[in-house]
Amino acid sequence: MEKKNWLDAPDSVAFNVTNKCNLKCEYCFQNNNTKISQEASFEEVISVLNQLDSLKVSDVLLEGGEIFASPFIEKLLCKLDNYKIKFHVITNGTLLTPELVDKISQTNLSIGVSLDGHTPELNSQRGGKEVYYKILSAIEMLVSRGITTYVNCTVTKNNADSLDQLIELCNKLNVHGIVFQRLHCSAKADKNYFYNNSISYSQLVGFNSIYERAKSKYPHIYFMECELFCFLDAPERYLKVCNPDFEYKPKEIFRCAAGRKFCVITPNLDVVPCGILEDYPCGNLRENSFIEIWQNSERLNFIRHISKLRVDEISMCRDCTYNPICDGGCRADMFHYAEAWLAPHFLCPNSKSEGYKDS
Ligand SMILES: C[S@@+](CC[C@H](N)C(=O)[O-])C[C@H]1O[C@@H](n2cnc3c(N)ncnc32)[C@H](O)[C@@H]1O
Ligand code: SF4
Ligand code: SF4
Repeated sequence: MEKKNWLDAPDSVAFNVTNKCNLKCEYCFQNNNTKISQEASFEEVISVLNQLDSLKVSDVLLEGGEIFASPFIEKLLCKLDNYKIKFHVITNGTLLTPELVDKISQTNLSIGVSLDGHTPELNSQRGGKEVYYKILSAIEMLVSRGITTYVNCTVTKNNADSLDQLIELCNKLNVHGIVFQRLHCSAKADKNYFYNNSISYSQLVGFNSIYERAKSKYPHIYFMECELFCFLDAPERYLKVCNPDFEYKPKEIFRCAAGRKFCVITPNLDVVPCGILEDYPCGNLRENSFIEIWQNSERLNFIRHISKLRVDEISMCRDCTYNPICDGGCRADMFHYAEAWLAPHFLCPNSKSEGYKDS
């Protein structure tokens, strides 16, 4: 019998409670297609959280749109301590008030605030330069109340050369950690946007050494990067774990947890494999329970099936030396960028078949 490569219930879930948002970030991967009238009510949100709690889901990330634009956010905050779940929030920060921060401080929520650079200009793609000052003031309020606060930075070619200054600013702000996320291809970050705004190879090399230095310089800050350097450090990782004299099987693709240990619930209660795949609904919680969808969805099973394939199914990876340790890159990006699950990832600098655009 084929080995099962997914959990009976996910261990973490992101719940996009609303699509409402006060900003219009130019790269936003949120679809914003859901009509507000179709969004989950407070009672529906609670019913979903009850299901996740009874399935022993350990972590739930509450997101939007902008979660603090939800009409029932205050009511929801009051309920969170009823669950065994560990909750986290990602917010643009601009709607936080001292009263809301006070309520948050009475929960055990950790908060990620999105901040893309150390100047107003580097955040103006979110909807004007004044947004920067609102974000900073939100971070200061949260940190001063002792709330675990992270900065979430989306790395593009526009901010890649000044991330050392962002790290310095985060240190001054006393945040607990910084999460660097690569630009993904979905919704507003369409094919052209993704192609024109992804970090270039030389920027990636530059940021890699800044990142390594920053980790030793600021050991009290928790640093996390979401597969930003996965192609760049493939040669080094290969030498660390492989003996070039031996032959190894190519790695399984789609290494991320999507559909296997993790999924996302959209504001209209669709279950999707990850935030980049909001246009790939696998079932709706108004029609079936969470566990029915998780265990029976054909689309989730398809994602699980792809996750078992090996990276040599991707043409450019077939003869690549590093294919025993590299998963070929994010498949959701390529589903949108090339409309093919097994398309070569255009950001890979090791590929011989496609040149990495470095301009
Ligand atoms: C979609 S937002 C929702 C939460 C909240 N509204 C915010 O902006 O923080 C979640 C995170 O995804 C980031 N993000 C948005 N579009 C992205 C894209 N195309 N690629 C990578 N990250 C993106 C945002 O900057 C934010 O840190
Ligand atoms: S990234 Fe967040 S703040 Fe920006 S438009 Fe999307 S949901 Fe709104
Ligand atoms: S060619 Fe494929 S296997 Fe090789 S480093 Fe690039 S994405 Fe990874």
